[in-house]
Amino acid sequence: MTENFREKIWHGADYNPEQWLETPSILEEDLRLMRLSHLSSASIGIFSWAMLEPHEGEFHFEWLDSVIENLSKNEQKFVLATPSGAKPHWMALRYPEIRRVTSGGQREAQKARHNHCPTSPLYREKVAIIDEKLARRYGNHPALLAWHISNEFGGDCHCDLCFGAFQNWLRERYNDDLDTLNRNYWSRFWSHSYSSWEEINFIDAPVHGLDLDWRRFMTHQTVDFMNHEIAAIRPHSQVPATTNMMGDFTGLDYAQFAPHLDFICWDAYPQWGNGDFLGDESEVGLWAAFHHDMFRSMKGLPFWLMECSPAQTNWRPVSKLKAPGVHRLSALQTLAHGGDAVMYFQWRQSRGSSEKFHGAVVSHQGNENTRVFGEVSVLGSELEDLSALAGARTAARVAVIYDFENLWAIYDEQGPRNEGKNPEKTSRDFYKPFWKRGISVDVVPSTADFSPYQLIVAPMLYMLRPGVAEQLTEWVRAGGTLVTTYWSGLADENDLCFLGGFPGPLREVLGIWVEETDALHPHQTNSVHIEDPTLQMEGAFEARDYCDLIHTETAHILATYEKDFYAGRAAVTVNKFGAGRAFYIAARLETSFQDQFLAHLSADLQLPSALNTQLPAGVVAQKREGNGFEWVFVSNFNGSQQSFTTSQSGFERLENRAWSPLDTSATQILTPYDTAILRRAL
Ligand code: GAL
Repeated sequence: MTENFREKIWHGADYNPEQWLETPSILEEDLRLMRLSHLSSASIGIFSWAMLEPHEGEFHFEWLDSVIENLSKNEQKFVLATPSGAKPHWMALRYPEIRRVTSGGQREAQKARHNHCPTSPLYREKVAIIDEKLARRYGNHPALLAWHISNEFGGDCHCDLCFGAFQNWLRERYNDDLDTLNRNYWSRFWSHSYSSWEEINFIDAPVHGLDLDWRRFMTHQTVDFMNHEIAAIRPHSQVPATTNMMGDFTGLDYAQFAPHLDFICWDAYPQWGNGDFLGDESEVGLWAAFHHDMFRSMKGLPFWLMECSPAQTNWRPVSKLKAPGVHRLSALQTLAHGGDAVMYFQWRQSRGSSEKFHGAVVSHQGNENTRVFGEVSVLGSELEDLSALAGARTAARVAVIYDFENLWAIYDEQGPRNEGKNPEKTSRDFYKPFWKRGISVDVVPSTADFSPYQLIVAPMLYMLRPGVAEQLTEWVRAGGTLVTTYWSGLADENDLCFLGGFPGPLREVLGIWVEETDALHPHQTNSVHIEDPTLQMEGAFEARDYCDLIHTETAHILATYEKDFYAGRAAVTVNKFGAGRAFYIAARLETSFQDQFLAHLSADLQLPSALNTQLPAGVVAQKREGNGFEWVFVSNFNGSQQSFTTSQSGFERLENRAWSPLDTSATQILTPYDTAILRRAL
């Protein structure tokens, strides 16, 4: 595998020259502007199929040859996409089977993009032909940096081909044993027993085991489609392959994609400008940080930000401009969390069609004299100064479990709450105290290897996949500290409830059992009073939404409910277990509880922070290590000036394109949305 994709921090953009072939002056201007903006890579061909194969079997690569030649002469590398994300009209009309079928059984019209059937042998054949041609022609080009497989995989297809493949997948999963499937699906409920595999041909939400298997199958089928594309390329090109994933998208289990990719990348569109209160972008920054960490954790290696907007998006109800400095803040935040590339959607605003008002490096105005272009090019030069950061790692001793299968099961279950379950936000609430304090966190699925961690936080771990309780139990016994919450340990991988008391197989390690779960209406609250001084917390914390009514077995009570008929009962517990301990937080408590509680645990476990100093609110530090340096990014998410000092010696700060020694006695100024980039020799 060629490794030059790790040689520097890339500054790139989705580039659609096919939209401008009739205007050579614009293509010429693109090259000048790319140099000016310090763009080092262009992602091309993502939606070019209709230009590459305008009629069946008739291929036109000349235009792409010349684009690639021009980019190379201009010293830009290129990321080449396989074009399967959008199929040409002629193909969709001639071969209807490649078009998706909705859950209502309707074959979709040819429209938009990202809507092919992942199973169709015909589509796979067509995709393999074009992919192979691209790989043969460009796969060994010295400027080819990476393969961009398709674009943002996602979405289900309910056609007969997919159902047939689903049935085969189920036969294999259940060893041809329909009785086991029926038992796992609890299918006698509402008379849903299956008497043949062929009957399993529709998506039936009340049968949760089936729904989970369908989502697993769609993940499997999409990964298989992606691997089919990679297989078409590999004989002709050893250049690394990736695919761009999406933040907040949980329709496919991304964890299953990771082992097949050479590196991970994702597309981030946080709602900058929509912070909690004017001028503070830290809640938006939290969302981005969590996802950066999740994508980095997938391989435990630096990832790429394949897309972000240097300005606005155009697909949200309201798209605010990125205020001056916010783009740099968000780009450097990517690096801080383990990113080795900042790339844009899009290089140049298209003149027509649905993305014409989406932000771009080059606007309709057309030259370098814009605020956005200016900010992008300054950033580009700064990224050049950070080449030595490429490949640097993040060492986390804390993991937050964020498991897509668990999320699916929570979405499906109908229980005490059917609105406001918010498992995603809950996970971020538990992640935030670490992020704020500069403590590195991995965000991992429940099946990850837990051995690198001292502390694992598993909020709302409703579903326990095979082996998870056992691994957690042994890990705690060996000295780990586990924190889990209400609505954990209720169901197995088929969404069958554990019998004999929740949290099922976690009962022993947690030393409690949950008899009932109360759901609070939005206007109702309870409160939880701290009883044990060893927590180093005082007073009471508001509880909302979920309140488990628990019994302690071997656990010790740390806090109790104050209200309702369960006043006085345990609300927070700890169980000493082997060399470790396991905490249970029985209610959804106000975030200040997590903040204080996890701060206490972090101090107790001596978890290292990126910069051992008190930072102002909304100022966050993150650390990476590599190439002989410790790198620390101190980001100011406030729209106001902030400052900090550090007593740690040996740091240098990158300012005005030069590293200067950081004076430990001097106050470091952070202008609004500024990031201080520090390094010191390891
Ligand atoms: C991404 C997509 C890009 C572009 C962008 C707009 O999801 O991959 O092609 O549409 O959104 O924000």
